[in-house]
Amino acid sequence: MSKAVRKAVVFTEYGGPDVLHVAGIDVPEPAAGQVRVRIKAAGVQPVDALFRSGAAARWLPAAFPQQLGNEFAGVIESVGPAVAGSSLGDEVIGFQPNSCYAEAVTVPADHLAAKPAAMPWPEAGVLSASGQTASTALEDLGVGPGDTVLIHAAAGGVGTFAVQLAVAAGATVLGTASERNHPFLRDLGAIPVTYGEGLTERIRAAAPGGVDASLDAAGTPEAAAAALALVADPHRIGTTVPRAAMAEPRIRSLSTRRSAQRLAALVALYEAGSLKIFIDRTYRLHEAADAHRAIETGHVRGKIAIVP
Ligand SMILES: NC(=O)c1ccc[n+]([C@@H]2O[C@H](COP(=O)([O-])OP(=O)(O)OC[C@H]3O[C@@H](n4cnc5c(N)ncnc54)[C@H](OP(=O)(O)O)[C@@H]3O)[C@@H](O)[C@H]2O)c1
Repeated sequence: MSKAVRKAVVFTEYGGPDVLHVAGIDVPEPAAGQVRVRIKAAGVQPVDALFRSGAAARWLPAAFPQQLGNEFAGVIESVGPAVAGSSLGDEVIGFQPNSCYAEAVTVPADHLAAKPAAMPWPEAGVLSASGQTASTALEDLGVGPGDTVLIHAAAGGVGTFAVQLAVAAGATVLGTASERNHPFLRDLGAIPVTYGEGLTERIRAAAPGGVDASLDAAGTPEAAAAALALVADPHRIGTTVPRAAMAEPRIRSLSTRRSAQRLAALVALYEAGSLKIFIDRTYRLHEAADAHRAIETGHVRGKIAIVP
């Protein structure tokens, strides 16, 4: 099968951000049901850093030389047999495990949604993973009109999407963040609450009518304690942070379910003006180590993008 040689970020051993480097990789010609996409932007997630460091090796082992990155946007440059609805030159948003910090990727055509022409590339590149995680989590927690929902780490990658999706669903949203992010959260439609000692009491004061559901993207013991103290229905307490669910069995572990339909629904909300995408910073492929240093601070606002 013919293939294209392209640049990608890889690591050949576990370690700190400096193990990341740019190398030439073979990107296969698309098989039946696949397309190859020239990547214009990709998103960075905390899990990418866990993957690189080896901290996730037990459940996500690397196969060296290992690529990384789960979300991208780009232009279709090759279409395999038996693909309906995707054409050469289409601008798309997509998802594919551990392969998106690259100039190109070959993916199943059903991992794609159409990119609106007016959506900037970095924004398009960071929607698929965190956006779908937030969407799945709110669905699993049954968040809807009239609910008061608490979102921990509301200013981060998952949180910024979750806040906006919950507001769009008709919920009242409380979001935890440091004070520098309070104006940002207010602009998104949330009531900001500072995390740290006294969190549960501050939330109680900010939501005198009570809290119906809690989505945790921070993974801290205090986030778990606040949710357990304030939310009566245990089925409506969840976390996207696997170690937080392992530490506290009363909290549901929420895992993403990605699909072209879920992605297209997010794109539709963006086009309707109900979902904004926030880029903290963009990096080039050769700056992937700096992108990882940034995500590892735990204080990114919105998302980090890699622009090849
Ligand atoms: N299970 C899944 O399918 C899935 C999918 C995606 C992500 N995840 C997981 O979900 C978690 C969140 O991901 P993410 O992309 O949203 O992370 P992120 O973007 O790195 O989160 C950064 C945000 O966390 C906030 N923060 C830091 N410390 C906090 C604290 N103690 N309390 C509350 N907020 C705090 C920061 O706000 P300040 O700067 O204001 O402190 C910052 O805005 C990660 O553990 C990730 O691995 C799981």
